[in-house]
Amino acid sequence: MVFSKYKEFVEDGDLVVAWIGRNKLLPLKIEDGQTFHNQYGAFPHSEMIGKRYGQQISSSAKQGFIYLLQPTPELWTLALPHRTQIVYTPDISIIFEKLRIVHGTRVIEAGTGSASMSHALSRTVGPSGKLYSYEYHASRYETALQEFRDHNMLDEVNGNTRLTHRDVCKDGFEIAESSLEVDAIFLDLPAPWEAIPHLIKHVNRNGSTRICCFSPCMEQIQRSATALQASGWCDIEMLEVSYKQWAARKTRVIRVDDSIERLKEVKRHRTEGFERRKERQRLEKELAESAENGEETTDSPISVPSEPPSKAPATTERNHKRIREGDEDYEWTDVARIDSNLKNHTSYLLFAVHLPSQLDNESESTE
Ligand SMILES: C[S@@+](CC[C@H](N)C(=O)[O-])C[C@H]1O[C@@H](n2cnc3c(N)ncnc32)[C@H](O)[C@@H]1O
Repeated sequence: MVFSKYKEFVEDGDLVVAWIGRNKLLPLKIEDGQTFHNQYGAFPHSEMIGKRYGQQISSSAKQGFIYLLQPTPELWTLALPHRTQIVYTPDISIIFEKLRIVHGTRVIEAGTGSASMSHALSRTVGPSGKLYSYEYHASRYETALQEFRDHNMLDEVNGNTRLTHRDVCKDGFEIAESSLEVDAIFLDLPAPWEAIPHLIKHVNRNGSTRICCFSPCMEQIQRSATALQASGWCDIEMLEVSYKQWAARKTRVIRVDDSIERLKEVKRHRTEGFERRKERQRLEKELAESAENGEETTDSPISVPSEPPSKAPATTERNHKRIREGDEDYEWTDVARIDSNLKNHTSYLLFAVHLPSQLDNESESTE
């Protein structure tokens, strides 16, 4: 898989993740002769080739810069083209821990969607594991197929991923040429409870199989839990991941005296504004009355003053300009703040385990 190899220098043909800003990452295919443009200028690919991964790349006019990073599933999740809602890394990590996804694990995943989860699964299960991914939406399937091909993930060319175009709720998970038995299952579907009964044919005969259903609504969780119970799954539990990232920032120190001074100033401005408005209304009324009485107003008009320019503000703050964090004209102190920009799609995570002994019970009860 292309995302599990590391190299030092950017080469022609590499897929890179371009870091554009704190919350903006983009996938970029390096092609000699092409140029990447953004608001900070032009970045010819020819100038990227040969640079060290992670090195800062300046625009031709030196007005901005980007970084080129080697794609990992975690970076891909932040940079990928969205075709659907996706699963983010905070959820993926707890799912991997609960499903015990390691090198060699065989996993079913449905649906593929934007393949955020697929990339993480394919990288972690490695060459000795296997990912069976299912998608019923034709164009999403085609796009994911091309993406998996480009990222060297497909099992037909030494990868570990098999992508199948199938409605798993209707037609189950069978694949043509081999029997399918897995250790872990991840369902990110609108109606997982319709797919659950089909899974029993594919659980591990010699060990446990773990499942996670990822659903945004409690009603979906309830229906899936009922379906899991009916199919012999046990240890059913639900989690929700709540992720907060803390950032080191500066906050302005505002003294009581400064605040009082500022409040007084606001009050003074308000009173002055009110007086000016009253005066303008009075003059407008006078003008209207003179016009009604047919009085001549051209030579000595009663001029209605427009808003006078406000007194030159003493500070940028009074000018309503943005004060830059750390501006030396102000006093600052260091604080920790929660970063509110983090993308994490909150869903409920329903987990359950299937044990081989359950299969004996099931076959006994059907005899
Ligand atoms: C929310 S997206 C999955 C996102 C994916 N986990 C990711 O991280 O990018 C759900 C996907 O399931 C597909 N889907 C819905 N019902 C399906 C079904 N019965 N069989 C196969 N795929 C299905 C949808 O077309 C959609 O692409």
